[in-house]
Amino acid sequence: MRAPLIQILLFSLLNSGSIMAGLVKSDTEDFIDWWPHTVFYQIYPRSFKDSNGDGIGDLKGITSKLRYLADTGITATWLSPIFQSPMIDFGYDISDYKAIQPEYGTMQDFEELIDTAFELGIKVVLDFVPNHSSDQHEWFKKSAAREPGYEDFYVWHDGIVQENGTRVPPNNWPSVFYGSAWEWHEGREQYYLHQFTKEQPDLNYRNPKVVQAMDDVLLFWLNKGVAGFRIDAVNHLFEDESLKDEPLSGKTTDSLSYDYTKHIYSRDLPEVLEMIHHWRQLLDDFSAKHPERPTRIMMTEAYAGLTQLADYYEDSNGVRGSHLPFNFHFITDVKGDSDARDYVYNVEKWLIYMPRGHAANWVMGNHDNPRVASRFGPASVDAMNMLLLTLPGVAVTYNGEELGMVDYRELSWEETVDPPARNVGEKLYQEVSRDPVRTPFQWNNETNAGFSTAAKTWLPVHPNYLELNLEAQKVANRSHYQVYKDLLELRKSAIMRVGRFNIEPLTRWVFAFKRSYPNFESIITVINVSDKEQLVDLSEFLSQPKKLVVEVSGVDSKYQPGQSLAASALLLAAREGLVCRLV
Ligand code: NOJ
Repeated sequence: MRAPLIQILLFSLLNSGSIMAGLVKSDTEDFIDWWPHTVFYQIYPRSFKDSNGDGIGDLKGITSKLRYLADTGITATWLSPIFQSPMIDFGYDISDYKAIQPEYGTMQDFEELIDTAFELGIKVVLDFVPNHSSDQHEWFKKSAAREPGYEDFYVWHDGIVQENGTRVPPNNWPSVFYGSAWEWHEGREQYYLHQFTKEQPDLNYRNPKVVQAMDDVLLFWLNKGVAGFRIDAVNHLFEDESLKDEPLSGKTTDSLSYDYTKHIYSRDLPEVLEMIHHWRQLLDDFSAKHPERPTRIMMTEAYAGLTQLADYYEDSNGVRGSHLPFNFHFITDVKGDSDARDYVYNVEKWLIYMPRGHAANWVMGNHDNPRVASRFGPASVDAMNMLLLTLPGVAVTYNGEELGMVDYRELSWEETVDPPARNVGEKLYQEVSRDPVRTPFQWNNETNAGFSTAAKTWLPVHPNYLELNLEAQKVANRSHYQVYKDLLELRKSAIMRVGRFNIEPLTRWVFAFKRSYPNFESIITVINVSDKEQLVDLSEFLSQPKKLVVEVSGVDSKYQPGQSLAASALLLAAREGLVCRLV
């Protein structure tokens, strides 16, 4: 039934010239491609599944769980870095871009992972970390030694000698991870720039040799069969050549805090867009040369303004860049106390800014930010998954969010390993630590939640694993996992792929959105973001007096799938979400 319906819808769309939610008819290629409607499941390899009992997740562990992804309905995954690394920033400090981190496995393990994923119909996207390498990378060692050809691989500077003879860094730029963004190198007797930890020196993208070296890296992994890349910290790639002091933000007097300056010379420079275009071309060329495999895509990580992110999709000259500039607004712009208007605004603003002909994307969580259950409260888990998975376009889920895993905020200072948390010290570490969101995946109620047989895991398992785990959620009558799975099933229907979209706040605390197409049954999502029960009338929003039939309801809902509801008086429990079919 699915294919014909999609074809009918496609046919009428292609002849209507109408703007769909995030997709237009002029963009038919993208429209029927594999990625614009996909759910990307982020795996944090260190914490997903340990196959050899050393307490650290690994590639064989991931491969052994790909069946789980497929059974859930996941068809694409992006993996946080798996490359050789001293693990100062847990893989975001790479010492060899073409080698697998030994504690994660071997190249053969990676090839097996790719093959298994392929057999299961799962695309694999790798994390590409171009802004900085590890200080243990041979490029950095050679650059530090001024070896010919490598002198300018990184951003070096003599610093400034003050009147009293003391040498200080060239400017006031702070690192994202606290402290000066400059570090003195004894060997080279110069400062080098590091926008993250001092063990992550920034590569110099004004040097064509660096660009070439990174192209080689991308081609290496493309030839191994990956479906694309998530590009890390892309807006940090370039710095203003003047290396001028940045103006103070006025937000803090702590000159070591990243908030101290307005990052006008060290972030979001126009050159970033040129690199994005360059990489897009590389991917498109590769896809064209290898049409037997799917389109290779780029997803970019930048906590940047809407205008910039819109330009990443496609600039004002119509040059295409990132397929999916990550939209982090559900992480950064709504909170537990946000009201319905905030949510609606959050969704609309992306759709308004996104240039026509592109796929929207919604990221609900990642390894750098608190989990949904911790940001919005455990009662919101199902509603937030409903929101994520019924909006038009691409959805990005962080591993464990399908179970409603909770941050392990009680981690002690001694257990803390995240570099920004270690940098700010024992008093403040809890405010910035990303460890709580990175604890091992909770598979079952056995030792270490089934993650590992080790006596000690790299981060402790959240003690709630005895109750909160996948196995328990599979056999329960209702569970977050089952809700998640039902939503993925629903996403397969044509209306979820091509339906027109509109969203409105119904009251201060309840909003609804609709996917519809003439002559097809619409899908309605309605969400109460308050801590109180709310009674709403959907008649006006639906514009016809119709009946709603529940498609997916939350774990604690009094409504069951298949149940009919009157649109004129719908009672929603606190934080409840419902997905209904309009009949
Ligand atoms: C963003 C990554 O998601 C984060 O985990 C990392 O620490 C920084 N970039 C630096 O690579």
